[in-house]
Amino acid sequence: MNINVAAFSGSLRKDSFTTKTLKAFAALAPEGVTVNIVDISELPHINQDLEDDLPEPVKRLHEQALAADVVVLATPEYNRSYSPVIKNALDWGSRPQGNNCWDGKPVAVLGCTPYNLGAFGAVNHLRQVLVYLNMQPLQQPEFYLAGAGEKFDESGQLTDEGTRKLMQSVWKGLLQLAQNAPQ
Ligand SMILES: Cc1cc2nc3c(=O)[nH]c(=O)nc-3n(C[C@H](O)[C@H](O)[C@H](O)COP(=O)(O)O)c2cc1C
Repeated sequence: MNINVAAFSGSLRKDSFTTKTLKAFAALAPEGVTVNIVDISELPHINQDLEDDLPEPVKRLHEQALAADVVVLATPEYNRSYSPVIKNALDWGSRPQGNNCWDGKPVAVLGCTPYNLGAFGAVNHLRQVLVYLNMQPLQQPEFYLAGAGEKFDESGQLTDEGTRKLMQSVWKGLLQLAQNAPQ
């Protein structure tokens, strides 16, 4: 097995729980899986005026998305929806029209919040967009991390065994999906 994963955090915040969650997930990747956490902080806001001469960060995003067999999107919840940082990356990856870098790719969504509902609203809004982009969202297991403030130690390491087990189940499902994906 040799699988390349492009992984994205929807939070640009230095001490982001979402990024910690994504890094903990990446650290549990099975053998043969390479995870590339893609920096999307320098992408400009989506703007069709830029499409004739794509900015370098957009070109890099396209290369990294096209090289990936599988995508992982970790998102915080903002006002019961998902991160505009993720939306911006998905939008650029689908442009210019007719060049959908995400087409057919298996994708897992990790929802994360320090509050109670596990970013349910964020994850489920995001899934709708992934279907339109013709990606293959992992349906089960779902991943909602509530109470993220109590799940990491001071160095950012995941301390919660239940979350670790859930992450391992997500990896299992995601790799099954990837192995069955049309080439
Ligand atoms: C604009 C905004 C809207 C938010 N809305 C929600 C929300 O709907 N649900 C929720 O659980 N947390 C909400 N929060 C709180 C975030 O979950 C919290 O700030 C979290 O730490 C952000 O993720 P991060 O740690 O990865 O940056 C919101 C935060 C911001 C900045």
